[in-house]
Amino acid sequence: MRLSRYFLPVLKETPAEAQIVSHRYMLRAGMIKQQAAGIYSWLPLGYKVLRRIEQIVHEEQQRAGHIPLLMPTLQPADLWRESGRYDDYGEEMLRITDRHERDMLYGPTNEEMITDIFRSHVESYKQLPMTLYHIQWKFRDEVRPRFGVMRGREFLMKDGYNFDLTYEDAMHAYNRHMVSYLRTYERMGLQAIPMRADSGPIGGDDTHEFLVLASTGESEVFYDSAITDLKFGDRVVNYDDRAECAAIVKEWTTPYARTDETHDVALFHDIPVERQKTSRGIEVGQIFYFGTKYSEPMGATVVTADGSRVPVHMGSHGIGVSRLLGAIIEASHDDKGIIWPEGVTPFHCGIVNLKQGNGDTDAACDAIYAALKAKGLDPLYDDTDERAGAKFATQDLIGLPWRITVGPRGLANGKVELTSRRTGESEEMSAEAAIARVAEIYATI
Ligand SMILES: Nc1ncnc2c1ncn2[C@@H]1O[C@H](COP(=O)(O)OP(=O)(O)O)[C@@H](O)[C@H]1O
Ligand SMILES: [Mg+2]
Repeated sequence: MRLSRYFLPVLKETPAEAQIVSHRYMLRAGMIKQQAAGIYSWLPLGYKVLRRIEQIVHEEQQRAGHIPLLMPTLQPADLWRESGRYDDYGEEMLRITDRHERDMLYGPTNEEMITDIFRSHVESYKQLPMTLYHIQWKFRDEVRPRFGVMRGREFLMKDGYNFDLTYEDAMHAYNRHMVSYLRTYERMGLQAIPMRADSGPIGGDDTHEFLVLASTGESEVFYDSAITDLKFGDRVVNYDDRAECAAIVKEWTTPYARTDETHDVALFHDIPVERQKTSRGIEVGQIFYFGTKYSEPMGATVVTADGSRVPVHMGSHGIGVSRLLGAIIEASHDDKGIIWPEGVTPFHCGIVNLKQGNGDTDAACDAIYAALKAKGLDPLYDDTDERAGAKFATQDLIGLPWRITVGPRGLANGKVELTSRRTGESEEMSAEAAIARVAEIYATI
């Protein structure tokens, strides 16, 4: 993309309404525009990151064997009357009446609808295990939407639902989700710690939230610092292997890590004192086993090997896709702007022409741009007439991890400059070497 033809409405001023850094930078970098409280348009740059995050979520869900589908945002109230949640959900649910006076709602989540799909089409235990998921907009009429996409009213969520014959099978689905989530967040350059969460009125203790440590997080968290040393890395997991998944879950759930809701002071104080950490965290996902809570009242049953009919064991598993943009920025920025991890960056590399209109720099930039594209990369070439300082400020604000700078002086010596946004370090090299280096960095992402 050439910046002169792109739509990147960066703001010079810091918007007064933004209280936290991710919200400020998302507005300043022209990623989002608020349309109503907690409701945003995704401008091109923000939309690009949103799509990259979605893509990673899709890849990791499917790697774990989960099946994508798509359910609508609007749902009939009758489904929710079956589960009893139409009355229970309260004011967070946006209720709508259509022209035929039918009660509808904008889905805050999809347990009822997915259970309805399952009961309509699945008869036999032989079709299990099954996990279906989608990535779809949700609406929750939050009392206090705030912090931009972090707590919106309309937000994008990946929600997946497992259907299993037995409790043991459902626990494998639970573990499989935890493992796939660990990998998902790491690919986004994030460390999200699974923390034992409060299961609320549903009961049972099989729920974990995934929290990204950040001072602006809404939850207070307590953990053993040993957990922050764990890395998922590039291990290859057989998601059908129960023991393997359970071992990874054990690895991540053995060190103490809890939110204030489940915090146990006595257990916490058993940790060596230098490892006792308190912080704040942003919830970027949650996994939940809830058994037959929906399958029983809604009649989602299967016929077993001995011919009896039993309700299926279920769980639901969410990732806050749109919230993740905010969480990533909270975890990765400096006072000049965002620092995107390579896995989610909107463009792989910036190209800055220090002397637009100069025949040599223009030709060199065009060649670098074409060469990066030929390698399957997505560069953003600043071909505008702005002065160098303004171009650098924009690059720093929008946070592309790598930048190639082309100026007449360097070019006279056959050199361009490759700069890392994260370290700020620059290295002079030939254009070919810079292109090869950038390609090599992304080859392993
Ligand atoms: N209002 C919101 N705005 C943005 N993301 C949200 C919002 N509510 C929930 N999410 C994201 O969706 C994920 C799954 O939702 P869920 O666990 O049902 O939410 P909650 O714990 O807030 O009830 C959460 O972990 C969070 O990352
Ligand atoms: Mg939650």
